[in-house]
Amino acid sequence: MSIQFFGTQGRDGTRIKLPGTYRASTPWTPHIGDLFPEFTAVTTHGTLDLRSFAQGQWVYLFSHPAAFTPVCTTEIAEVARRADDFERRGVKVLSVTRDEIETLERWSAEIRQDFGHEITFPMAADPEGILIRACNMLHPSEHDRLPIRKSFLIDETQRVRMIFEYPVRVGRSLDETLRVVDALRESDRHDVVMPCEWHPGDPVLLPPHMHDCDADLRFGRRSWTRMRKYLRILDR
Ligand code: BEZ
Repeated sequence: MSIQFFGTQGRDGTRIKLPGTYRASTPWTPHIGDLFPEFTAVTTHGTLDLRSFAQGQWVYLFSHPAAFTPVCTTEIAEVARRADDFERRGVKVLSVTRDEIETLERWSAEIRQDFGHEITFPMAADPEGILIRACNMLHPSEHDRLPIRKSFLIDETQRVRMIFEYPVRVGRSLDETLRVVDALRESDRHDVVMPCEWHPGDPVLLPPHMHDCDADLRFGRRSWTRMRKYLRILDR
């Protein structure tokens, strides 16, 4: 058996070779910065559409493979336990799987019983995989029918601000999701950029486009330190 490759080569010597079977016409899927498409979904809280559900707030939309599976159960229970952490930040939560609505209702009752947390967010049923396919949540090498663990943070203008993809076999970190909400908010508010492993209260960085004099005006002279021309740290 031989594998056919196709490739692309740049002027500077960058080359990529992909298996021929990967050549495909790619339909649109949400990218960071895109307007998230308006959609209507049947959920455990009734039928909802994204805009009315969001009510001008941020939305954390996440897919997971299926009801009545071990990792997914821990994820739903943990999001339910930390509902206040999302609410305090003004983030609405919505999950989606390929299950039927009745399945989700039975499963959420069982999680409430076993973990003691009320599931206060809607769980969307997408048995035909319409939203799931549009959001590129099906990765056939990972699972032939079920979605991976994909997460979107959608802001109040319905723009996608963050996308995470996790494999079927590993549950997500909610700490990281909430950290990104905090970091994006701080970045938006002050036009600063957030270093690796930033947490609220840590120093932040001046963005490359900001001139020194603008940084002085905005944050005050001597409020920031230059390590390199491109690396300026704002102490706060
Ligand atoms: C899980 O959530 O544990 C799971 C779901 C689908 C396949 C394998 C594991």
